[in-house]
Amino acid sequence: MKVSVAVASKHGSTQEIGEAIAAELAAQGHEPRLHDMATASILDLDDSEAIIMGSAVYFGKWMMAASVFAQDISARVEGRPVWLFSTGPVGTPLKPADAQNEIDVDEQIRMTGASEHKVFAGRVDKNQLRLGERSVVLALRVQDGDYRDWDEVRDWARSIAGELTAQEQRQPVG
Ligand SMILES: Cc1cc2nc3c(=O)[nH]c(=O)nc-3n(C[C@H](O)[C@H](O)[C@H](O)COP(=O)(O)O)c2cc1C
Repeated sequence: MKVSVAVASKHGSTQEIGEAIAAELAAQGHEPRLHDMATASILDLDDSEAIIMGSAVYFGKWMMAASVFAQDISARVEGRPVWLFSTGPVGTPLKPADAQNEIDVDEQIRMTGASEHKVFAGRVDKNQLRLGERSVVLALRVQDGDYRDWDEVRDWARSIAGELTAQEQRQPVG
């Protein structure tokens, strides 16, 4: 199945999660295409049969480009399955601990009719951050590190791939 994986990433970690999801979908026999929500047109997704959208989280929210893209695409979903993910929590233990409830994506879920919103741990590297961002991370006492769980990312992508394959098999041929 043709699947669009659309990501919004400021420092690259969400982009790499999108790449890993696309790679897993391809390994499972689907045809993924990766889009950057900051530059893609919603029209680029018109011939996709399923849509996965993921954004980095800053101050509890999706990046602006992702929120705008989700709003714009919502009118063109037309029954296609949609999954959302966020890249956010960092540190040991992960902060925020209750990211699933703290990330403000209710509107994006409602608008797109997404069947799931998955939260993945992210990466923080203070050298990449601007002064304002760095002071927030320092105040939270989060250690630099890559907290992404690649097995969890691949498992999620594989479960989506399975659902898409099942859907394909239900569709009448011809
Ligand atoms: C200034 C700042 C604010 C952040 N706020 C949140 C937040 O509210 N919730 C969260 O789960 N993660 C938060 N994070 C963590 C980022 O989401 C995480 O580093 C993510 O991997 C960044 O993705 P990117 O590399 O694709 O930009 C914040 C990080 C920074 C630097």
